[in-house]
Amino acid sequence: MTVRFEPSGPLSGSLRTAADKSISHRSALFAAMADGASRIDGYLRAADTDSTLAAVAALGAGVEADGDQVTIKGVGLRGAKVPAAAIDVGNSGTLMRLLAGWLAGQGSGSWRLDGDASIRKRPVDRVAQPLSQLGASIETSQGLPPFTVHGANLHSAAIDMAVASAQVKSAILIAGLLADGRTSVTEATASRDHTERMFAEQGAIVSVADSEHGHTVTVDGCESLKAVDRTVPGDPSSAAFLLVAALLVPGSEVTVERVCLNPGRIGLFRILQRMGAQIDGLPDSDSAELGPEPIGALTARYSRLVATTFSEAEVPSAIDELPLLALAASFAEGTTSVSGAEELRVKETDRIETVVNGLSALGAKIEGRPDGFEIEGAEVLEGGTIDSCGDHRLAMLGAVAGLASRTGVEVVDFGAAGVSYPAFAQDIASLA
Ligand code: S3P
Repeated sequence: MTVRFEPSGPLSGSLRTAADKSISHRSALFAAMADGASRIDGYLRAADTDSTLAAVAALGAGVEADGDQVTIKGVGLRGAKVPAAAIDVGNSGTLMRLLAGWLAGQGSGSWRLDGDASIRKRPVDRVAQPLSQLGASIETSQGLPPFTVHGANLHSAAIDMAVASAQVKSAILIAGLLADGRTSVTEATASRDHTERMFAEQGAIVSVADSEHGHTVTVDGCESLKAVDRTVPGDPSSAAFLLVAALLVPGSEVTVERVCLNPGRIGLFRILQRMGAQIDGLPDSDSAELGPEPIGALTARYSRLVATTFSEAEVPSAIDELPLLALAASFAEGTTSVSGAEELRVKETDRIETVVNGLSALGAKIEGRPDGFEIEGAEVLEGGTIDSCGDHRLAMLGAVAGLASRTGVEVVDFGAAGVSYPAFAQDIASLA
């Protein structure tokens, strides 16, 4: 499906965005791992998180979904069933990696996991390798899906993460619940900590500590997780498309309500503020305390932006938003360079390649680097055609570029947006 986004007049209004994808995946998965029934309100009904509902049902959990209200009856921490067919994770790297952690710690049984063409290019060795240090047995196709997880009795370990990834950290922490003893995982910079917060709510013993080696999360092996009811907040990664559109379209002012303001998720907004963006509603400081997710309203107003210098420590908290940073930087005065972001190469697409090709085709001055890109800002972005290459974030990037462009943008395979934000086009239309 090709959709054209014309240059827009001022965007204005207040709305809620799509439910958080990371928290929706985890709430379904951790409910399936719990004893008893959990109710999830405001679950994200999108392709990625529907894959999670189907996966936990295939593993034996009872799933009842009525729109965004979902009830899940858990199978217990060690009760995952072996389905007749392979588990289809669709397009979701989060589902694939978190499931690997859970299934690896089932005492017996084998599970085959596979997904779409994009998932077959995404590394699994990054979870297979650290999980093997806990005694897990995972056979991959040269480090990629499809792969087979053989359930085993795990033992605890202290793991230093080789890549900055909340998915890998979460897979290790989930396996740590099933392991004998106390498991710790250390990352150079703290990534999103939804797993840690949700485990604590479900009665697991989790703690965090910062030292000169990095950020360490420790979890105790346990017998069971409590079922808890949850309400999923709005996704800051989805809100970012609406807020950046407001920053780039003259005369705009947009408020997104009930957004998750987890410190590991709001890096883009802090970077944009440094670039001169008028964004209200961010917390004063990023506390590392484990507790409920911080939630609030964010307002963005049209702003003249200036280029900024970007530090590698900012990558984890802005990882999914770096394509939007590239777009914002193409309107900023001066040259912005993003480095230390080689992780972009192993997302739903190689997002260094797809962002550089996509934005260049619209007239932006952007050059790729092995670990990021460099963008020279200009007063206007011409417009043209961008191919999402099946990547949801590229589809929405093209749409926002169109609203802010001189001549409009045609987005090829716009339907990819349905992976995380099925109502995106309607939400944009309601602001225009
Ligand atoms: C996610 C973590 C990030 C992010 C992805 C969702 C999560 O991946 O890109 O969209 O829910 O844990 P990495 O942790 O692998 O960088």
